[in-house]
Amino acid sequence: MTYPVRKFDAVIVGGGGAGLRAALQLSKAGLNTAVLSKVFPTRSHTVAAQGGISASLGNVQEDRWDWHMYDTVKGSDWLGDQDAIEFMCRRAPEAVIELEHMGMPFDRVESGKIYQRPFGGHTRLSNPDDPNSARIAVERACAVADRTGHAMLHTLYQQNVRANTQFFVEWTALDLIRNEQGDAVGITAMEMESGDVYIFHAKAILFATGGGGRIYASSTNAFMNTGDGLGICARAGIPLEDMEFWQFHPTGVAGAGVLITEGVRGEGGILLNADGERFMERYAPTVKDLASRDVVSRAMSLEILEGRGCGKNKDHVLLKIDHIGAEKIMSKLPGIREISINFAGVDPIKDPIPVVPTVHYMMGGIPTNYLGEVVAPQNGNPEAVVPGLYAAGECACASVHGANRLGTNSLLDLVVFGKSAGDSMIEFIRQHPDIKPLPENAGVFTEQRLARLNNQTGGESVDALRGELQRTLQRHAGVFRTDAILKEGVDKILALAERVKRTEIGDKSQVWNTARIEALELDNLMEVAKATMIAAEARKESRGAHASDDHPERDDENWMKHSLFYSADNRLAYKPVHTQPLTVDYIKPAKRVY
Ligand code: FUM
Repeated sequence: MTYPVRKFDAVIVGGGGAGLRAALQLSKAGLNTAVLSKVFPTRSHTVAAQGGISASLGNVQEDRWDWHMYDTVKGSDWLGDQDAIEFMCRRAPEAVIELEHMGMPFDRVESGKIYQRPFGGHTRLSNPDDPNSARIAVERACAVADRTGHAMLHTLYQQNVRANTQFFVEWTALDLIRNEQGDAVGITAMEMESGDVYIFHAKAILFATGGGGRIYASSTNAFMNTGDGLGICARAGIPLEDMEFWQFHPTGVAGAGVLITEGVRGEGGILLNADGERFMERYAPTVKDLASRDVVSRAMSLEILEGRGCGKNKDHVLLKIDHIGAEKIMSKLPGIREISINFAGVDPIKDPIPVVPTVHYMMGGIPTNYLGEVVAPQNGNPEAVVPGLYAAGECACASVHGANRLGTNSLLDLVVFGKSAGDSMIEFIRQHPDIKPLPENAGVFTEQRLARLNNQTGGESVDALRGELQRTLQRHAGVFRTDAILKEGVDKILALAERVKRTEIGDKSQVWNTARIEALELDNLMEVAKATMIAAEARKESRGAHASDDHPERDDENWMKHSLFYSADNRLAYKPVHTQPLTVDYIKPAKRVY
């Protein structure tokens, strides 16, 4: 065998919300469970989630899970799978109460129940008895001030410590090991401190590695969000789904990209252009600043493009919040005040915050069903399960977010699908109690990748290539797209992909060699970037976050389908959207107005 082997019942790659929720399920079931994380788990990117987790608890005003489902289908621009969306929205209240019982310190309303605030795209019927009545904003985001992800992550980590989950901290996963039948039987992973590589041999493997927003130059994502799970799966022959859809969060701090939660607008904040106009009244007359993110980001970009941007370069708009009062800002948005002072040099108690749309979330990912099982077309079945392989959270495409995610549905996705993936793994391990043998060549692929990197001479700089990749995506896969811009982007990315095969690192040492780790991460970024550019160039319509000037309308007849990108030959295939919910009626496509 190439590398030393460690055996577990279950291996989870990623220590954020989805990974920890799955691990908790497995460890509590008495299974020997390992969690590998590039950082200490409580520093995972879930920690950056601010505004809340959605659930129709109805603690402030009447709310219902089917209204949440309607909003999510509409938000997805009818690309979301309605079985998965029903599964998630139905389970949301139970998932949040579970977190509360684990000790998550939610803010409270007067009655002592969990505090909820409005968020973009989340609505209720103004007359619950009349399905045709206007949909108005609803308080659905369950919040811990503006640090909801932080609180969730600490709660889940502590529960895992109690349940004896084994943590491998500062380990990075490298490659997936599949046997001859294609079943997942292990991964290779590197301990970053020593540079040693091990094989983690397991009965079931879950990827919960988060997003890949670092393919863009300006992103709310942490530096570690390099799409590792996607890169690993793509190299192992698993297609990537719906990668053309990237969410631009309307309010990143201008120039810095740091997230300013949508909760600011939920608490009453408004967006202003250079004329001091509350311009969202023109774009979304009913819910205004609380329209869904793609709608608000496009409106902001148009204001800037048409010369109504603020500042000396007219390159941002303003988020005004002072009118809600210092007391509310200090109690409900303390982190935002800190971020604004540190990154924008303004105190929102007195002055508006300069903001621009910034890449925030990847709607696509590793294809799964709502049970967290990874699926890939086989023998005419577009949803054939890959035995032993699971994915959950942002790296997975369940697909509940379709072409555009609603704010706060991400934290919900983590816990609902983290738990369901954990349950599916428990069932799979019960049915297959014996660990499947490793193939004879286990680890050889990783060995070859590392040897290539160590022996490369006259190669390319990792830093320079990553910069070019990020600038290409920023320029060619932005808020507004055209056929020509996308085509040029594909050509550039394919040329870069060839150069990425020849990266060279100056430092070849073993211990804490961040240069080697960044080179390996660049391989993953490249898989995500290729999938994004190629799938975006092919989609000839506008839907959710994919807005094409050349094809401005949504085209349900030809394009209501999921894209699947295969890395080996840069090929695209398509599969149908699941239009059949689990128990309720199909929510038929309609024009998306807010
Ligand atoms: O705006 C926010 O607080 C982000 C939430 C989310 O992406 O779900």
